[in-house]
Amino acid sequence: MANKNILIAYYSYSGNTRAAAEKIQSVTGGDLFEIKPVKEYPKDYNIVVNQAQQEKQNNIIPELVDNGNVENYDIIFVGTPVWWYTMATPVKTFLSKNNFAGKTIVPFCTHGGGGASSTYTDMQNLAKNAKFKEGYTTYEKSANIADIKKWIENINL
Ligand SMILES: Cc1cc2nc3c(=O)[nH]c(=O)nc-3n(C[C@H](O)[C@H](O)[C@H](O)COP(=O)(O)O)c2cc1C
Repeated sequence: MANKNILIAYYSYSGNTRAAAEKIQSVTGGDLFEIKPVKEYPKDYNIVVNQAQQEKQNNIIPELVDNGNVENYDIIFVGTPVWWYTMATPVKTFLSKNNFAGKTIVPFCTHGGGGASSTYTDMQNLAKNAKFKEGYTTYEKSANIADIKKWIENINL
């Protein structure tokens, strides 16, 4: 891992996935990239839950402020909250707009009790030419450095 270029790209609505991404950054020394939709999601939880469901059902992916550029990286950690049993829609945009040929994706997610559900298989379907490693799945704010270190040792980057 030492000589590889690492990017940690994440979307976070309420901060949990951001906290996990920052911990991964502190363990790996990679670059952080926040995936941001042009139009921010409403602050009201019920409204965002409904909007996310509509987006999922209608295959809508939001435009991003910056699609990011994975060209100079070998390993890309991709983090998301679980939204309706899958990744958040801005992460769908990020995976769709970048070319992951020859890259390794290391997924991670935070959830509200339902686990990763289809998040990782759906990610693989959106970035078919990437190699995927086992993901790190945590409940809400429970991401911690000790578990992250163990996970990263186990996946042999
Ligand atoms: C739109 C929306 C949909 C959600 N759907 C799920 C779900 O299907 N399963 C689950 O366990 N948690 C679900 N949650 C809870 C979030 O995954 C959980 O709170 C997560 O840690 C939030 O991460 P964040 O703070 O980075 O946005 C949902 C939350 C939102 C806002």
